[in-house]
Amino acid sequence: LIKYISWKIDIERMVKIMNFKELAAARYSLRKFSDKPIEKEVLDTVLESARLSPTAANFQPQRILVVNDENVLEKLRECTPYHFNAKTVLVVCYDKSKAWVRDEDDKNYGEVDASIVAAHIMLQAADIGLGTTFVGVFDEEPLKEKLDIPENFVPIGIIPIGYPREDARPAHFHTKRLPIEETVFYNKF
Ligand SMILES: Cc1cc2nc3c(=O)[nH]c(=O)nc-3n(C[C@H](O)[C@H](O)[C@H](O)COP(=O)(O)O)c2cc1C
Repeated sequence: LIKYISWKIDIERMVKIMNFKELAAARYSLRKFSDKPIEKEVLDTVLESARLSPTAANFQPQRILVVNDENVLEKLRECTPYHFNAKTVLVVCYDKSKAWVRDEDDKNYGEVDASIVAAHIMLQAADIGLGTTFVGVFDEEPLKEKLDIPENFVPIGIIPIGYPREDARPAHFHTKRLPIEETVFYNKF
């Protein structure tokens, strides 16, 4: 227990002194959650960073469902194998009737907006010692039905969120990133 507590203190200290670059490197998809509930003010910090996210024309079409009721969690767990038994799960949606639409080709930017919101959520969570995984594997229609998601809302991702279990570690994918030359180009692809 003492070892665990000192490890936690080390992690918390590390988390506090991390600059953004270090935070971006340290965040990883957490797939082992402890049962420790997220304190209200801690969750509020994450949701506030989601609120501050930029959106197309500042239309703010994101709609986030916080699922922390065991009955609702059970319904959600029927819609994805990747719930990791987290006690809190955020379902990130956008309201397609409220999102900015590009004149030139009628492209609805709601999915882009909601994805940026999801990034804010994951990085803010990591900054305060919480873990998340962005989950794209879910049955959209059953999810909408079981969670009473309004017709106009499009769920783009499910984000289990919580404190890491003691034995949680990044998966091997976390350290596998393409060399910068494969993803960044100057002036010409
Ligand atoms: C759009 C998207 C969908 C994803 N879907 C899932 C998923 O359904 N299940 C899962 O376990 N991880 C999912 N992930 C997590 C990725 O597998 C993970 O981010 C990637 O392997 C890099 O690892 P890291 O996040 O630990 O750095 C998803 C990530 C993104 C961005």
